[in-house]
Amino acid sequence: MKQTTGEKIQRVAVIGTGLMGHGIAQAFAVNGYDVNLLSRSKDSLRKAVQEIEWSLNKFVEKGAIGRDEAEAALSRIMTTTSYEKAAADVDLAVESVSENMELKRRVFSKIDETAPSHAIIATNTSTLSVTEMGKATGRPEKTAGMHWFIPPQLTQLIEVIKGDGTSSETIDAIMDVSRKLGKTPILCKKDARGFIVSRILVSVFNEAFWTYNRGEASMQEIDASVKYSGGFPMGWFELVDYVGVDVEYDVSKILHEAHGERFQPRLELTEPLVAANKLGRKTGTGFYDWTKGRPRIAYDLAGRYDVERSWAVAVNEASWMVLEDVAEPESIDLGMHLGTGWASGPCEYADNKGLDSILDKLEAAYSRYPIGLYKPSPLLKDYVKKGWTGKKAGKGFHKYK
Ligand SMILES: NC(=O)c1ccc[n+]([C@@H]2O[C@H](COP(=O)([O-])OP(=O)(O)OC[C@H]3O[C@@H](n4cnc5c(N)ncnc54)[C@H](O)[C@@H]3O)[C@@H](O)[C@H]2O)c1
Repeated sequence: MKQTTGEKIQRVAVIGTGLMGHGIAQAFAVNGYDVNLLSRSKDSLRKAVQEIEWSLNKFVEKGAIGRDEAEAALSRIMTTTSYEKAAADVDLAVESVSENMELKRRVFSKIDETAPSHAIIATNTSTLSVTEMGKATGRPEKTAGMHWFIPPQLTQLIEVIKGDGTSSETIDAIMDVSRKLGKTPILCKKDARGFIVSRILVSVFNEAFWTYNRGEASMQEIDASVKYSGGFPMGWFELVDYVGVDVEYDVSKILHEAHGERFQPRLELTEPLVAANKLGRKTGTGFYDWTKGRPRIAYDLAGRYDVERSWAVAVNEASWMVLEDVAEPESIDLGMHLGTGWASGPCEYADNKGLDSILDKLEAAYSRYPIGLYKPSPLLKDYVKKGWTGKKAGKGFHKYK
């Protein structure tokens, strides 16, 4: 059967017009792709097109694209409520419907029925199994994950996920298309829950929650330290509010189920907020009050939380991914840098700091608080034992000359 390469992809179907779908359609259209945009109702399609127009106008106002380019992009988007029309002539379909396996399997199967045999079917799922969705089609080798970051028309990063049945040609094609969209794709070599970026983020969120819960530091003390001493773009509680307390709550449960005790969450912090619909920025309140804009976190509280412990759990999680052959250190670093604005990726950080120092930090935390979060990975211990302690030794996660 013919295989689609990135080169050959010209027409793309985008299924779903929620928070992510319309931005994905826009990103394709601006970069010269013809787009079939599908939603359940004409009304939601109208709204999606309005959102795309609004966003394209912003690009024009900022001088990023010309008015004619914006108009050309809009003219490349065909809207429909029919799967037959959406999938009939495409080379690639990207589904971005609600995060529900049954629904996504149905969408995959409907696209599979109509799309040409060479077409690739990709999912924007954040947490579900790409492999399972692929099994709902007659072409599992031509299915994969294409995980965008919000807002998709702006964010640089795309995680490309290989399902158990995904062929390397399909991965190459999606990596290629992502680059043509001006994005930086990183490869998640296995269909492991949380892929790359969410796994690292939830580990630092869990560390913050456990620390707070033990009464070691207040929420503001943790966030001030993370922001002002650690140089991260946001404090961890602030970032949970920013992405949505409900989203963090769901993802942390999924990661716990998938990866075990290392991801044991402290749901007593997030559960009451979710129950009270205090979901963070989007509802106006979460851990912080967002009704007057971004929360102000007092500068003088910085230094009362040991940010090195955030780094230690992030590095530990990165080392599990390397051990499990889920991702290369380069991909993990790029992902955290581009997806979340960290100045340095965890592998890079560990190499500079010394893997022995990170291991000491984890062991000290683990001996005091024996929970899975702090238990050093076998890979980290092995690297230190071999003397691969980072830059100073010429080898750590990365190699140095
Ligand atoms: N929001 C984020 O930050 C983010 C980031 C990356 C990936 N994702 C993933 O993207 C996907 C969509 O998320 P979102 O935030 O855009 O959600 P959303 O709730 O804003 O949009 C969901 C879309 O699915 C459509 N939909 C629901 N049921 C449907 C059905 N039966 N048939 C067809 N369409 C249906 C809705 O009409 C809507 O257009 C999810 O898989 C999510 O995990 C979200």
